[in-house]
Amino acid sequence: MNIKVEQIKTWQHYAYAAYVRTLVFIQEQNCPAKNEFDPLEDEAMHFLCWVNDELAGTARCRILEGQTGKIERIAVLKHCRGQGAGRALVLHIESILKRMPDISFIVMSAQDHALPFYEKLGYQVIGAGYMEEGIAHHKIEMRVK
Ligand code: COA
Repeated sequence: MNIKVEQIKTWQHYAYAAYVRTLVFIQEQNCPAKNEFDPLEDEAMHFLCWVNDELAGTARCRILEGQTGKIERIAVLKHCRGQGAGRALVLHIESILKRMPDISFIVMSAQDHALPFYEKLGYQVIGAGYMEEGIAHHKIEMRVK
């Protein structure tokens, strides 16, 4: 299995990310389309994951005020799950954030069903749960420095 993650640099690759997010979040999870592609798209770094050279997943990442990086919109196409694509996306983005001198924490707003996935990657749940887009979430974080 050959898993590759790359930062998006072209509109064509951004369109691939939008395609994955449309299938996963809007169609599969019924998230409102109007909220999926928000104004924060412009400031975010975007990533694609390829498994054996086939499009498998995407994620985006933003630098928040202070010492925090936030990973968002992690989505792996249904037929590609369970092969390490989600983990590869998170680890690749972590490696970029860890090289940034000011970043001490990585945070995410995690859907509850995916908490075991994030806990395996070393994230801890912070605080009480809440609803976003009708889906149960918890804030999770990991200290990186
Ligand atoms: N519950 C429990 N364990 C899970 C899991 C889940 N929902 N999803 C993955 N894991 C485990 C895997 O079994 C694997 O364990 P291992 O290291 O012991 O083999 C490890 O986590 C890594 O899994 P991986 O194959 O990299 O995950 P994936 O490519 O299937 O991606 C998601 C995981 C959550 C990104 C994917 O299921 C997805 O896109 N879901 C729909 C969108 C979504 O909910 N995104 C998250 C928003 S917060």
